[in-house]
Amino acid sequence: MKHLISAGDLSRDEALLILDTAEELARVSERSIKKLPTLRGRTVVNLFFEDSTRTRISFEAAAKRLSADVINFSAKGSSVSKGESLKDTALTLEAMGADAVVIRHGASGAPHRLANWVRGSVLNAGDGTHEHPTQALLDAFSMRQRLGRLDGLKVAIVGDILHSRVARSNVLLLSTLGAEVTLVAPPTLLPVSVERWPCQVSYDLDAVLPKADVVMMLRVQLERMNAAYFPSAREYSRRYGLDRDRFAKLHDDAIVMHPGPMNRGMEISAEVADSPRSTIVEQVGNGVTVRMAALYLLIGGENQ
Ligand code: CP
Repeated sequence: MKHLISAGDLSRDEALLILDTAEELARVSERSIKKLPTLRGRTVVNLFFEDSTRTRISFEAAAKRLSADVINFSAKGSSVSKGESLKDTALTLEAMGADAVVIRHGASGAPHRLANWVRGSVLNAGDGTHEHPTQALLDAFSMRQRLGRLDGLKVAIVGDILHSRVARSNVLLLSTLGAEVTLVAPPTLLPVSVERWPCQVSYDLDAVLPKADVVMMLRVQLERMNAAYFPSAREYSRRYGLDRDRFAKLHDDAIVMHPGPMNRGMEISAEVADSPRSTIVEQVGNGVTVRMAALYLLIGGENQ
């Protein structure tokens, strides 16, 4: 494994290796001194062209816990605002000797292009509406941690699938790991290609909830919407929001997930988001260990 660009590129064994490595590294995170010397002398560049809280901070924490040198680059305040291209930015990083480049970009496919221009490993931290593979890995890790398995797990992913790189990466990864995914959304918020995805599709959240082991709520990405996809926020919430009444339809062991950031009161009520069966805060913590595992496996080898 040289790059981590798509969850679909991972074999079952590779995905499980990342999850198992993260489990070992999670033990380090429980110590008072959290640092390991594993990536001493390696350089990790965080290249963020789009806003991020969780992913950017957790990649930085992950690299630092493994003793890598970290360079944080955000497009705001850089020469990108003067019109510098992704290629020229990449070549500048290349000159600095980056061993790994973590990239978030608004254009689907940007990490793939970048991989042609740099010698180091490229990790996709979210590209447009395409993929977010480390989010899917941390989600799978969180499911396995809470429920003890992934094989045969019934996972409902609910909401704005059309604009969600998290949904696509989760469907690809979870199907590889033996989970059964159902996407739930209004027809307007499903991509046209969804029939080719390895999952079921439903428009009826109330019918899906009683059978689900995991309900993953997605943010309605208003900033990517240039048309009306539903009549009103209130109507969306009424049909696809996870509130107290819907939460009561879940079986007792089922968990609720959300990749964040949340629109509290729209796709998920505050009461459900903060309930003990919500893994939302755990997901953020697991993001650090899963990203440590990914960096370690990509650039931690002797021959780097
Ligand atoms: N889940 C996620 O990608 O969050 P950020 O946009 O804050 O990184």
